[in-house]
Amino acid sequence: MRLKIIGSAAGGGFPQWNCNYRLSRRVWDGDPNLRARTQSSLAATANGNDWVLFNASPDIRQQIAFTPELQPQPGGPLRSTPIRAVVLTNADVDHIAGLLSLREREPFVIYATGRVLEVLASNSIFNVLDPEVVQRRELPLGKSTDILDACGKPVGMTIESFAVPGKVALFLEDRSKADEGFGTREGDTIGLRIASENGPAAFYIPGCARIDATLEDRLSGAECLLFDGTVYTDDEMITAGVGAKTGARMGHLHMAGEGGSLAALADLGIRKRIYVHINNTNPVLDAASPEHAAVIAAGWRVAFDGMEVRL
Ligand code: MLT
Ligand code: MN
Repeated sequence: MRLKIIGSAAGGGFPQWNCNYRLSRRVWDGDPNLRARTQSSLAATANGNDWVLFNASPDIRQQIAFTPELQPQPGGPLRSTPIRAVVLTNADVDHIAGLLSLREREPFVIYATGRVLEVLASNSIFNVLDPEVVQRRELPLGKSTDILDACGKPVGMTIESFAVPGKVALFLEDRSKADEGFGTREGDTIGLRIASENGPAAFYIPGCARIDATLEDRLSGAECLLFDGTVYTDDEMITAGVGAKTGARMGHLHMAGEGGSLAALADLGIRKRIYVHINNTNPVLDAASPEHAAVIAAGWRVAFDGMEVRL
């Protein structure tokens, strides 16, 4: 199986369009130590031909332009794509807005939980993808699903979806339920185990608020984990002066310190560990920073756009 991280930044991207914080500033200024990054998305193939996207970011058009494997293939039909399916892990704007760019009556399949499918159904703009052409299939939690293309043909990939601690999409928060997770329900945020027929599996968890015992058990001994790398410290956006929210308030577990993902995932025997969905305030974006060095020393990699993992 080949995994390509086609977008490694969190919502907003890096640099973010309106951001003058020191990290974005350095990219605007052309500092070669910092790589620009597009918004969160992963592409994977089990057979080398049929590709599955995991989340569709607002930058999908640019991501396809940078990824020849996702472009219409030479000599192929006049209208065609190697993208057979899009699997959604939540309804955050950075994970669903790219669907709008995949219109033009091209058949593929959207896989998501019932909760996320409700969001697509209740926002009629998503009907630019006519459900007769782009089928929407429900991902049952806790079960394995073989990914099929629009003709019902398997693409050689099986996914298992499981709920992870998280939060309902920002634009759907019910502020009257602040003490009940803003109306968050099971299925709003999921993690995925992605496997090809005979190979090892990868776990993809771009949003996760907490690592509980269930998740620890699930990830124990995994070959590969792509995990929520939004913030390095919980109060990072506040200390940076760019926002009032903690990572926890956004449904994202921080990396460093007690209870952070570096410590929580240190001793589970996970072979490849990669941080994805990195916010533009996270100091690990600077390859020369002590925080970047600490993450590397702990055995992690920091994703960049185009990073490929073969399993
Ligand atoms: C998140 O991951 O918290 C969201 O994508 C934030 C956003 O809506 O941009
Ligand atoms: Mn996000």
